Amino acid sequence: MKRVCSAFVFLLALSIRVEAGEELNPFSLLSESRRVFPELEAYNGTAFKEEFFTQKLDHFDILDGRTWQQRYFVTNGSYTSGGPIFLVLGGEWEANPVHIELGFIGQLVEHFGAYTIYLDHRFYGQSKPFPDLLLENMVYLNMDQALEDTAYFAQKMKQDFGLDGKWILIGASFTGDMTAWARARYPHLFHAAYSSGAPVQAQVEVAEYYEVVGRAYLDTDPLCYTVLEEGMLALRQLVQIGDAANITRLFNLVEDINVSVEDDVTLLYFVVTQIYGSLVQASTPGSLENVCSRLVSGQDNPLEAFAQVYRETIFNIPLRINASRLVESYRNQTDYSADITRQFMYQSCLEFGWFTAVSSQNQPFGPVVPIEFRLKFCTAVFGPEFTRERLEAGVERTNLLYGGKQPDVTRVVYTVGSLDPFNPVQMSEEPNVDAPVIIIQGASHCIDITSPASPDEPPPLAEARTRVVELLTTWLAEE
Ligand SMILES: *[C@@H]1O[C@H](CO)[C@@H](O)[C@H](O)[C@H]1NC(C)=O
Ligand SMILES: *[C@@H]1O[C@H](CO)[C@@H](O)[C@H](O)[C@H]1NC(C)=O
Ligand SMILES: *[C@@H]1O[C@H](CO)[C@@H](O)[C@H](O)[C@H]1NC(C)=O
Ligand SMILES: *[C@@H]1O[C@H](CO)[C@@H](O)[C@H](O)[C@H]1NC(C)=O
Ligand SMILES: *[C@@H]1O[C@H](CO)[C@@H](O)[C@H](O)[C@H]1NC(C)=O
Ligand SMILES: *[C@@H]1O[C@H](CO)[C@@H](O)[C@H](O)[C@H]1NC(C)=O
Repeated sequence: MKRVCSAFVFLLALSIRVEAGEELNPFSLLSESRRVFPELEAYNGTAFKEEFFTQKLDHFDILDGRTWQQRYFVTNGSYTSGGPIFLVLGGEWEANPVHIELGFIGQLVEHFGAYTIYLDHRFYGQSKPFPDLLLENMVYLNMDQALEDTAYFAQKMKQDFGLDGKWILIGASFTGDMTAWARARYPHLFHAAYSSGAPVQAQVEVAEYYEVVGRAYLDTDPLCYTVLEEGMLALRQLVQIGDAANITRLFNLVEDINVSVEDDVTLLYFVVTQIYGSLVQASTPGSLENVCSRLVSGQDNPLEAFAQVYRETIFNIPLRINASRLVESYRNQTDYSADITRQFMYQSCLEFGWFTAVSSQNQPFGPVVPIEFRLKFCTAVFGPEFTRERLEAGVERTNLLYGGKQPDVTRVVYTVGSLDPFNPVQMSEEPNVDAPVIIIQGASHCIDITSPASPDEPPPLAEARTRVVELLTTWLAEE
């Protein structure tokens, strides 16, 4: 099965950035979709037109008249008179029409004859309220403002272009939240929403993430889980005896790590475990079987196998492990770049958390990345006032505003993958009959939206998609 939109796929996972000739930055969220999906290289046929919308900077201060240009893509190529308007929400990535055209959303567009809009999120992609990312300007980067952007945009588009059909919100992961929350706040603007893989509950630490990861490997092959356990243990022993040269060789580091710098050692563990987490988060049918067969075939030397699969997954790109340097680079960053870590870290440190510590006893890697390590970056990058207490207050506020796993909302369909390591903070049961939750067995993070439906897909995925189409059909027939 073909996968598109790896920006969706690696969302929230703090994945890696892999660019030719560039040093591998372990904290970057953006993966290189063109490297991972070579078929995109040849893709040139978008029906979408790029446009810009004059957006308000501060929706909550009537006296502040400042505006900025928010980018969106739009097409009426499949629109049939009376059809719905699909508003696809961009999140912490750059909106790109291929996310729609090569995935399930494109098929929905065809099916429903929808007028389709893909809106960039403020501070990401080409939607820059300020020319820089100075901390004082990032106060305008938050969920409240982003939801207002969505509503104000829809209202103006309805007025200016007569788009008075029924508006359906579509989003994945972070913007799965936004679709459901915008539907709840603006039922008069948005008729229904499709929310895939949405982490609806803000939470400082998602220790359960690696429990889901561990279970996925265990269910694939118990021996695979053992190789991961033993590989990681052997790495920790190399650290203990200070064998930096072997660590550099095995994990292809740019330079030896200083094993007496605790944060550097933790950063190494964080990167390595995160790669194994991403393999589950972005898994496709058969991909974990493949990973596990490579690990198990090397079971005689678990460390070698563990390191080799890690290296191959990141395309043998050499990695620099230096925590203080990493902090400095994000603290220093004032320009936009393809690496959106600074922006998303800011949002995570204030409103959502969702930090994946490797701290549970119930996973193969051992308690190697404490939550404190993740939270330290908030203070180190943004300043001493970005404390855990402040984040806890922000998380409490987010759950109060939007209802966490018990939202009061209707006509939202939530999809949740059983293999998605973020599913512990996603919907687990439906809040009411008009807000169904579809748990998709064997599905990874947002795969129902990022990959196109195909005849050979697993039955639970096919059934989920059929159900989504049925629900949208029913809801569109309602007033
Ligand atoms: C892209 O454009 C080239 C030249 O117009 C064409 O040969 C190729 O088939 C196109 N690729 C796709 C995927 O449409
Ligand atoms: C699509 O938009 C173009 C102008 O952008 C317009 O000429 C055309 O009639 C529209 N088509 C439909 C089906 O609405
Ligand atoms: C470490 O490196 C030495 C020398 O290259 C090698 O003999 C030894 O087997 C290595 N140990 C591990 C655990 O890889
Ligand atoms: C490694 O870190 C320790 C503790 O910070 C420091 O004293 C030592 O000089 C460092 N060693 C190297 C080779 O940089
Ligand atoms: C890590 O980076 C810091 C700051 O750039 C530097 O002072 C330090 O020497 C580096 N550590 C190692 C082990 O290279
Ligand atoms: C961050 O900025 C300081 C001061 O301008 C500079 O010395 C340092 O090299 C920069 N660090 C990085 C990692 O860019």
